[in-house]
Amino acid sequence: MLELRNLSKSYASGRPVLSNLSWNFKAGEFVSIMGDSGVGKSTLLNLIAGLDTPDAGPGDSPIIVDGVPMSGLDDDAATRLRRARMGFIFQAFHVLPHLTLLQNVALPLLLNGLPTVRAAEMLEAVGLGGRGGDFPHQLSGGEMQRVAIARALVHRPALVLADEPTGNLDPDTAHSILSLLRREIKATGACAIMVTHSQAAAQMTDKTLQLSKTGIQETTIVNTFKQ
Ligand SMILES: Nc1ncnc2c1ncn2[C@@H]1O[C@H](COP(=O)(O)OP(=O)(O)OP(=O)(O)O)[C@@H](O)[C@H]1O
Ligand SMILES: [Mg+2]
Repeated sequence: MLELRNLSKSYASGRPVLSNLSWNFKAGEFVSIMGDSGVGKSTLLNLIAGLDTPDAGPGDSPIIVDGVPMSGLDDDAATRLRRARMGFIFQAFHVLPHLTLLQNVALPLLLNGLPTVRAAEMLEAVGLGGRGGDFPHQLSGGEMQRVAIARALVHRPALVLADEPTGNLDPDTAHSILSLLRREIKATGACAIMVTHSQAAAQMTDKTLQLSKTGIQETTIVNTFKQ
């Protein structure tokens, strides 16, 4: 569902951050990406999200989403693809403070012109059913991340991108948040890519990739997660 073909990125300063990465991510897979700080994990997610552009010569298509080369899309088309087909979860939540929880979760539906009834169902699914009228400042960090997960998944995106989603949470809360994320992506058949520094978090995914200066490769982490 997501194909990387010789993906490279260097910033204006010249030093290459990513060089010639290739990988196929499949629908329904929950994949973690680990690697040293500064190796380019967030850069990789931003490129996949279309928030940053890869180095590419004419005719190159280093990122292909559902058979569609991202490089062939203009800004509007890329925005539509991102809105309709992707969901995002970040360490710092990015929940909008002036909207209620229900309004936060309904946002991707509104932006895609979809009926908003599913927002309440999704809040229910993440255990915040009775709190739709609350505002984000009334929540704990773990609860905030539940809202972020509900918002990332409410429009049933094919691809979920998460950058250290449990980086600010204690281990028990992190575990319950990742169980929830896993359950929801398995229920919708999405592909999810999660960057993490935590072995415990990586253990809850189907597959762990190690990003290093030499490229990307699968690594073995004993999977202790039991459904
Ligand atoms: N906009 C930018 N301009 C120039 N250099 C950048 C920019 N964004 C990132 N970099 C550089 O690219 C490299 C990779 O950064 P990135 O944020 O992707 O790392 P990371 O693997 O996510 O690290 P961490 O685990 O600390 O979050 C770093 O050396 C960083 O300084
Ligand atoms: Mg990062």
